[in-house]
Amino acid sequence: MLSVQGLQVSYGRAQVLFGVDLEAPAGSLVCLMGRNGVGKTTLLKAVMGVLPVRAGTVRFDGQDITRMKTHERVRLGLGYVPQGHETFPQLTVGENLQVAREAAPNARPGALDEALDLFPALRGLLRRRAGFLSGGQQQQLAIARALVTEPKMLLLDEPTEGIQPSIVLEIEAAIRSLHEQAGLAILLVEQYLELALRLADQFVILDAGEVVRAGDSEELHDESVRRLLAV
Ligand SMILES: Nc1ncnc2c1ncn2[C@@H]1O[C@H](COP(=O)(O)OP(=O)(O)O)[C@@H](O)[C@H]1O
Ligand SMILES: [Mg+2]
Repeated sequence: MLSVQGLQVSYGRAQVLFGVDLEAPAGSLVCLMGRNGVGKTTLLKAVMGVLPVRAGTVRFDGQDITRMKTHERVRLGLGYVPQGHETFPQLTVGENLQVAREAAPNARPGALDEALDLFPALRGLLRRRAGFLSGGQQQQLAIARALVTEPKMLLLDEPTEGIQPSIVLEIEAAIRSLHEQAGLAILLVEQYLELALRLADQFVILDAGEVVRAGDSEELHDESVRRLLAV
């Protein structure tokens, strides 16, 4: 479904990704791991077209999307939940969701209801400004917002970072349900190894802008893999 080949990305003269390859088949849940600053967020941004690529290709659902605009990628079925969630704090929860619907005019109206079924607590907060929600609620809103566009694949950048434990469990359950029930392909950036072990089929570890290890999630138990993730 998603195939990244030889991806190189720079910020000005500082190169951050040095030829990254990554495959996420339809229906898979791939966990992208690695220490802080290795290039995980940069990779997701390049897949979404938020950052330009210097070399390499990104293919999604059989098409070369390397030069497409972000909104075109969303229409093709890529959903993105950025790190730190980036909801619109001045808008209400309902308005945040409405803005997302406008980004994907072809999505079914029922998609909004289904997104709210996943996070029922948001239903009672539709008229509250997003900026007044807890961090965990904002993260749930950010995920719901991505789902309103009816993606075939979801990119989640550290959805549990800094979130209170009870809501981490709710987010974990939501990711599992999207993967197992809805059959979405998911590329999850996650530093919490136990969560990755519970959710992922496959993993990819980045270090200094290169893939240093990739495999089936059982290998995450290996000491050699854990060393790559230790701070
Ligand atoms: N906007 C930016 N301008 C310049 N350098 C950046 C920018 N964003 C990230 N970087 C650098 O790129 C590298 C990778 O960052 P990032 O992709 O955010 O890593 P990760 O998500 O794995 O923590 C880091 O060295 C970071 O300092
Ligand atoms: Mg990051």
